This record gives sequence, C-alpha cells and structure tokens, in this order.
Amino acid sequence: MSPTDERVEALLARMTLAEKVGQMTLFTTDWGQTGPTIRAGYADDIRRGACGALFNSHTVAFTRELQRIAVEETRLQIPLIFGYDVVHGYRTILPIPLAEAASWDLAAIERSARVAATEAAAAGLHWTFAPMVDVARDPRWGRVMEGAGEDAFLGSRIAAARVRGFQGGGLGNTDAVMACVKHFAAYGAPIAGREYNTVDMSERYFREHYLPPYAAGVRAGAATVMTSFNDFDGVPASGSEFLLTDVLRGELGFEGFVVTDYTSINEMVAHGVAANDAAAGELAAGAGVDMDMQGAVFQRYLADSVAAGRISEARIDDAVRRILQAKVALGLFDDPYRFCDEERERREVLSPAHREAARDVARRSVVLLKNDAAVLPLARDARLLLVGPLAQSRVDMLGAWHGAGVADECVSLFDGITAAHQGKLEVERGCDIDGDDRSGFDAAVAAAARADVVLVAVGESAEMSGEAAARAEIGLPGVQSALVEALAATGKPVAVVLMNGRPLAIPTVAERATALVEGWWLGSEAGNALADVLYGDYNPAGKLPMSVPRSVGQVPLYYGEKSTGRPFDPASKWTSKYIDLPNAPLFPFGFGLSYTSFGYGEPGVDRSRFRAGERVTVSVTVTNTGDRAGEEVVQLYVRDVVASVTRPQKQLLGFEKIELRPHEARLVRFELGEEDLRFYRRDMSYGSEPGEFEIMVGGSSADLQSVRIVLE
Ligand code: GLC
Repeated sequence: MSPTDERVEALLARMTLAEKVGQMTLFTTDWGQTGPTIRAGYADDIRRGACGALFNSHTVAFTRELQRIAVEETRLQIPLIFGYDVVHGYRTILPIPLAEAASWDLAAIERSARVAATEAAAAGLHWTFAPMVDVARDPRWGRVMEGAGEDAFLGSRIAAARVRGFQGGGLGNTDAVMACVKHFAAYGAPIAGREYNTVDMSERYFREHYLPPYAAGVRAGAATVMTSFNDFDGVPASGSEFLLTDVLRGELGFEGFVVTDYTSINEMVAHGVAANDAAAGELAAGAGVDMDMQGAVFQRYLADSVAAGRISEARIDDAVRRILQAKVALGLFDDPYRFCDEERERREVLSPAHREAARDVARRSVVLLKNDAAVLPLARDARLLLVGPLAQSRVDMLGAWHGAGVADECVSLFDGITAAHQGKLEVERGCDIDGDDRSGFDAAVAAAARADVVLVAVGESAEMSGEAAARAEIGLPGVQSALVEALAATGKPVAVVLMNGRPLAIPTVAERATALVEGWWLGSEAGNALADVLYGDYNPAGKLPMSVPRSVGQVPLYYGEKSTGRPFDPASKWTSKYIDLPNAPLFPFGFGLSYTSFGYGEPGVDRSRFRAGERVTVSVTVTNTGDRAGEEVVQLYVRDVVASVTRPQKQLLGFEKIELRPHEARLVRFELGEEDLRFYRRDMSYGSEPGEFEIMVGGSSADLQSVRIVLE
C-alpha cells in the first residue's frame, strides 16, 4: 500500500459516519451565485464537519480564513478543497472556450488553461470546474460558448489539452488545480436546444459523437468528473449507474471522484425518478456519485440510508477515500495553507505575461469569414467609423463564465482601435444590442458618409449565452441587422466584427458586409487582439469549430451528416432537402479565411491497400499562394464508403496547423491505421470493417480533395 493510501486508510478508520458524509458534501459560499440556491452558514457547516469542500470562494485571504476553521476548529482537522468556475480564466480572462477551439491550436489552448490555473492556484483555489467538454451541435443552447463545438475528434484533443493545462506538472504543484471534466454526459444535446431539457439519443450516437471528449479528459488524467443535469436514456446522469459506474469506472477506468452539478441530486425528484431527496440521494450514491454539490442531500439523509442498510458503508468509504486521496495529492495534509501566499497572488494575478498570453490566444481564435475587396487589413491612416453596440463594451468581452474577471480590466474594441489607429476616427453607437430603437441610425449613416471604411461591432451580450441562456432565435438580437444594412446601403466598405457566444444565423449581414470577422468574446485583451488582426499585425487563421446555420430551422446542423437514402440532388424533387432553404450551412465547420491564400495539391497515399497493423501515409502539398506569411489548418476527413451501419459522409480524423512563408510549399503528412477506422458496428462491437475508405484533405470540411484506400 502506498504512503498516501496508508495515510488515507488510517484517517478513514478514525472517521465517524457523519464526518465521512461531511467530506462528500460541497457547498457554495455567498460570494457568488451559479445556481438556484446559495448558503450563508458555511462557516458553521465547516465547524460541524458538515462539508469537506467549498466553491465560489476565492482569494488567499478568504480561503485562508475558511481553511483555518477546518484545520483548527474541527476534530480531525481535515483540510477543505476550494473550487471555482475558472472556465476561461480567473482574473485574466481568456477567450471563451468555443473561441479558443476556433484556433485549432492545442499548444495555445493548453497555455491558456495554464494561465487560468496559475492565477486560480495563486488565489487560494485547488479545483476548477472545467474543462466543459460537452459536444454541441445546436447553437440554440447557450452553453455552446463553453465547449469546443460540434466534433468529437477536435473536442477530444482540446479536452486533453485543457486538462493538461489546468493540472500542469501535476497536482501538488502550487500552480496546478484539479481539472473537472464536465458535464457527464451528453448535456450538450438537449432536445430543441433548450437548457436543461431532455437528452435522448441512441447509445451508438452517444458513443460515436459525445463520449470521446469525456474519455479524452479522463485519459489525460483529470482528477474529477462532474455529472450533468440532464437525463440520459431516461435516467438522470446523477443517478445513472450506466454512466457513472459501467462507462466512467468500468470502461474509462476513471479513478478520481465524481461530483454532481448544482443540486442535481435534488432535481431527480423533479425528474420524477425519486419520491424525495432521501431517495434521490440513495440513487446518486448507488450510481457512483462521490460528492453532492450544494444539494445537502447527502448531508441530511445519507447516514440514515446507511443505517437502514440501503447504502453500504463500503460505498461511503469508496467515495471518501477518493476525496481524501485528492486532498493528499494537493499536499493539503502537509500544509493546508500552501495555496495561501499573498506574494504569489500579487505576482501572478493579472500579470503582464498573462495579459500577453491572453492577447496571443485571442488573436489565434479570430475567424475571418469574408473579406471582399481586401477591405481588411485596415489602413491605419484611413478615415474610420467605428459603430455598433459592442464597439465600446468591456463587460461583454468577459463572456458568460468570467470568474473573478473585472469589466474595467478588459480592453474593448474601441480601446484597441484607439491605441492602433492613426487616422481620423469617429464613433457612433448606432443602436443597442437589443430592442427596436433605431434613433441612432441617422447619425451612424451620416458619419459613414464621412468615412473611408466602416467597422461595425454587433452581436450578443454576455448574458445571452452561457448557462440558462438558450435562444430560440439565433439571429442578431434587436435591430442590429438593420443597422448593418443601413450602413451597407451607404456604399462604403463595411467590415463587421461579430461578438457572440454561439454561431449566429445572419445570412443578410453576411451578404451585405464587405468583410465579416467572427470575434467571439475574447476576454481581457479582446480589443488589442482584434486590432492586431484588423490592422494585419496578425494574419487570422481561425477555423470554425461549429457550423454556422443560415436559419435556426436547419438546426441541429453539423458537417458529418449521413447521406440518407435520398441524398440531396438539386435536379430531383425526391431528395433530402428543404423547399425554402439550401441544406448547406452559411459557413461550414473547419472554414476560415486568411489575408493570404492556400492551394492544395492532389492528396496521395503510400499504399492504396492495407491491413490491420499496417500504416497508410496520406500526403498533400500545401502552398501559400499569396504575398504574406500565414497559418493554415490542414484537415483530414475520412468516409467509410460501405459499412454494417450508416456512417457520416465525412469524419475529422486529423489536422495540422502549419505556417507558410509567401509562396512556400510544404508536404503535409498524416498517418492512418486500422484503429483509426473503428466504429460501433451493427452488433455494437467496436472495430473496423474491411472495405473502401475515402480520404479527404483540405482547409475546410466543405472544400476537400479525396483519394481512396482499401482496408483488407
Ligand atoms: C452550474 C453549472 C456548472 C458549474 C456549477 C458550479 O450550474 O452547470 O457547470 O460548474 O454550477 O458553479
């Protein structure tokens, strides 16, 4: 038995059942509210040994005082762990995760999580409730901003990068925090995109498209997993033995502890699978939940359930053991105050180096969607009109999970442009984010007449995305589209910067804008990062991690659709289509332009037939056909032409981000093996099937060249 195990077993043997249940209880403080209820009596809860962890409690000063109560005023002096939603930054706010996913830059994403973890740990925190790795294919759902988009392959690599970033050199380092892979599972697929709604999908669809990022986060060593609010196949995740024991423990081999989402045990009563909280608590404990977030169900009822023999004390011991092991790993038994260093807090939080890292990953997250007449990059000496309700907003740059971020510490687009522009600059608001007030249009249109180019910042407020912020309509709110149309009608070049938490169905804006930039919510350095791109100091290279629909009527919409028995044929009535819209998205997954251009040669393979155990090398020459250096995300997709079940017409199986000098050509190679072609077959066994595969390569899911290979 390891020294850690010995230490934990010795402590476990001394604990009363009440003290054990206390360790399985997580409460929020009243420093923040991220769910329906908050508590004020947490200091007494600590003293009574009634909770072993707190969240929404940060800074060295606050956590030190709470920790003091735990280790000096309780019988066993077991230290607390402090958690917080450091989803995209603690005080230095990084771009929203969906924006970072658009960078397809795993090193930058890992660096971003490292910055967040370093600041969180310096502020007394041990645990972040991140990464959120829920695949999402429905932009009506507000939390798409928090994940990595629609694809399991990209989402898996990003999940692992974020876990590595948060946990850094390993738990026990005072710049590392426990990661928490959430929300297990399939929370990103609520029916109708409505928050907290039912999730219902086949096990095959789940395993193919939703499970992989959770698995990747666990494989990357995530210390904790959080259950989701939704039911899955009729069972709420917090009470699902299939999810929490069979899959998470049995298949993925997860050894950390499982925490529920906010009061999600209690919510099993509303789900209609438990008559009362006590019964819900037994469902949760029996399914494999180790810690109850904020519901106080374990605290109130679990000891009685054990006394009644409905839950074994061995199950309780399993949960407490995992929680104590995490506290040992964090070094808290050696020194409960090791994360309480004011000097480190002053040095690390919002440091210049972190701001620079935030600016860098923000630049990499920007997606150039249109650039007619090369209106971008902007000329610094142009007569510029900056207009739109988001142009001067700092608070919305924080995004929806802004941790301890402070709006006034954010750089707005106006701030960034003011610092970069050298010519005449006029600013007009034009309209509000929402509402039907057009009284600002005239002044904006008049100012446009005096400008060489108009830069419009439109989109959503940070409250319009994130948790509990689903939208049934996913266009630009209010009269913002009308503002863009009015400005475009002046005949002046109009560059539109979108600032939003989800793909927006904006066909008219996309058509009227001369240039269109997906600027997301980019965090503390938003304005500087956007200026870097808009003035060409950084050549944008972002690619969409989520399809952008023309209309909410197309949703759910994603690139890897199946062909159906009547694939769309424009020449035939009887094929899969709408009569009022094209099937295709407004902008496809993997799409993004550059200030230069790239050409792709025909892809080649070193063998056209191969067997299990052999590798196929796919190669393609990519050329920078323009006059400036740029980065390109070369993407590899595969199609299983005939299989025992219907398969996606294309599936991302590889990508590489490369930088090319002007007119430089490079041979890019991908290795494939039989194991890359496996799927859940007709009998639900996981494996490959011999036959023909189409290998496709390009700079977007909608712009590919293919070559065929055969698996024997
Ligand atoms: C919220 C969210 C979850 C978050 C938790 C704690 O309801 O669903 O993602 O980590 O509560 O704030």
